[in-house]
Amino acid sequence: MDRRDFWYIVAESRDLKPSRVLARRVDDEWLAVFRGIDGAPAALQDRCLHRSSQLSRGRVIKGELQCPYHGWTYDVKGGVSAIPSEGPKVRSVKKCAASYPVIEQEGYVYVRLNAASSADWKPFSMPCHGKKGYSTIRLQNLFRNNVTNCVENFVDIPHTGFVHPRIFRDVSHERVSAVVERRKASVKVNYDGEKKNFGLFTWFLNPRGLPVRHTDEFFAPNVTSVNYWFGDKHFIITSQSVPQDDETCLVYTDLTYNYGWWNHVSKGVIRRQAQAIIDQDIEILDNQMRTIKKYGAHFQSSPADVIHAYIESIQAELAAGRDPRELPDRETRIEFWI
Ligand code: FES
Ligand SMILES: [Fe+2]
Repeated sequence: MDRRDFWYIVAESRDLKPSRVLARRVDDEWLAVFRGIDGAPAALQDRCLHRSSQLSRGRVIKGELQCPYHGWTYDVKGGVSAIPSEGPKVRSVKKCAASYPVIEQEGYVYVRLNAASSADWKPFSMPCHGKKGYSTIRLQNLFRNNVTNCVENFVDIPHTGFVHPRIFRDVSHERVSAVVERRKASVKVNYDGEKKNFGLFTWFLNPRGLPVRHTDEFFAPNVTSVNYWFGDKHFIITSQSVPQDDETCLVYTDLTYNYGWWNHVSKGVIRRQAQAIIDQDIEILDNQMRTIKKYGAHFQSSPADVIHAYIESIQAELAAGRDPRELPDRETRIEFWI
């Protein structure tokens, strides 16, 4: 198995309008994504069989995709349904454009690149999406770095005081301990001892200074989910990092929370604050990748980096074509300063 057996987001459902075709890049594959006549999403390789124009530059007509060059037209499975130069009768073209399996779930459109995959992976289910009392804000951001470095950043506490001072966390010289578990192609970190050091977010996240419960999770190959509970309030940040190639990811982030009547009035502020934090991560990850390209990725680690080591062990299994669910379970207690 490899990473092409997994499901990757290619669009938010609301962005894929019936008459629209979207150009997407996933793992160096070019895709044209559109909706068929019944509204179900479809994805074809973004290349016309005739003379290799990009289909995503064409038009969707009655649920079929027409090439912009000579008008060859494709159905949702990639079959050629019209060749305008041949007149109204379609001369049979045996070959089909490559098509990919597509699933629409929780407001996202997912594609799997390995059409013949027998792997039993499903698209990741976004936590508490649509659940009563919860609201979700969605963000999309381009990161100039690979999936592993992106997901490591999203579950990395020690950088927060340095990259996001004031806005998210200050360096507070606070000792935090955590239990880190690796199980079935996922990593879960359970923190204890965190106080109310959430920078500008404190007023919203935990104004009454309630005890904090915090977990960070990684799910192979590209999902992270950060959960905070403050009393009965719950705040979740879930990110799916979709590789465009080995150096860039389009990251889809859901901020999902149950803050009662605050859910709606605070949307604008939460969105702006979260985007400001993400912009700082985009910059540091861009810098990291530029340095890796210059000098290579030869990382040194301290004991606090066991979370990253577990993630990297899972990614290494995938890169070797093995199923990371077969790795033995591991559990480690760590302590570090933030
Ligand atoms: S290149 Fe697409 S119709 Fe000719
Ligand atoms: Fe960050």
